[in-house]
Amino acid sequence: MRIGILTSGGDAPGMNAAIRSIVRVANNHNVEVWGIKYGYKGLINEELIKLDNFIVDDISEKGGTILKTARCLEFMEESGIKKAIRTLKKFNIEGIIVIGGDGSFKGAERLSKSGIRVVGLPGTIDNDLNYTDYCIGFDTTLNTVLDCIGKIKDTDCSHEKTTIVEVMGRYCGDLALYSALAGGGEIISTPERKLDFDMICNQLDKNIRRGKTDNVIIITEKMYPIEELQKYIEGKLKISLRNTVLGFVQRGGSPSAFDRVLASKMGVRAVELLLRGSTEKAIGIRNNKIIHINFNEVNNERMIKEKEYDLLNVLL
Ligand code: F6P
Repeated sequence: MRIGILTSGGDAPGMNAAIRSIVRVANNHNVEVWGIKYGYKGLINEELIKLDNFIVDDISEKGGTILKTARCLEFMEESGIKKAIRTLKKFNIEGIIVIGGDGSFKGAERLSKSGIRVVGLPGTIDNDLNYTDYCIGFDTTLNTVLDCIGKIKDTDCSHEKTTIVEVMGRYCGDLALYSALAGGGEIISTPERKLDFDMICNQLDKNIRRGKTDNVIIITEKMYPIEELQKYIEGKLKISLRNTVLGFVQRGGSPSAFDRVLASKMGVRAVELLLRGSTEKAIGIRNNKIIHINFNEVNNERMIKEKEYDLLNVLL
């Protein structure tokens, strides 16, 4: 048997650990593994390389993805899918493992409708796939965010200042939420619990009046321009602030032990499923157990993590 792996969408720390696990487990079962470069683009353009145990040596500690990744609009069209299937047939690949987020899973589902066996591993720093407690990459990014905020806090504390920190997450507030739960910020605004400018000012004013003179306001990207918020607060409270957009710093870096182990365990399940002839499965972790569900059960409506937000009310 021959299988393929691709990483798609934004890179996430831990993708390499998943690749290593898949290659090692598959080779152990005498299954040949081909790496598809640049996500779905590589399937369309026939950019594949054979992977072996030697190539995946020492990659689990590396951030990014050795297979490279891309966002591929052509794959949204019927012609793109057809080209991809042609490539898979040409290379005799019977099943593929897609490592990526929401958009990558949609591509995976479309591909599986045309008879190719497909299994998905959730690899995204956003943690925006509801069916799994954690996506590969989220833990590492959360630690990176906390590390950056910790540094900002040292200066804020010394100068009694406030900084607005914008974190990634697309339309999911988990990075902001968990950063605040871990003690990274005093005020947070997320797509799930969005605060308007006045609410943020009132909260900040309250904090300053009670003697908390250094504050970090964590906001999820894409909600409002950070400079606008900064100017509004400065005008209203007559204080000067800084803003920091963490950007790609959050996606890079060596994966945490948690992400490496998670990725490795998910990789094992993916190979097992393909060996059993399964298809259209998304792998996840729930209550500390590796699980898989059908692609059509993956529901990406934003769910509010009520318990975590309630906890913030006590902690902040
Ligand atoms: O999905 C991961 C992510 O980093 C999001 O948090 C962010 O909105 C997006 O990717 C950025 O995409 P790009 O790599 O195209 O700038």
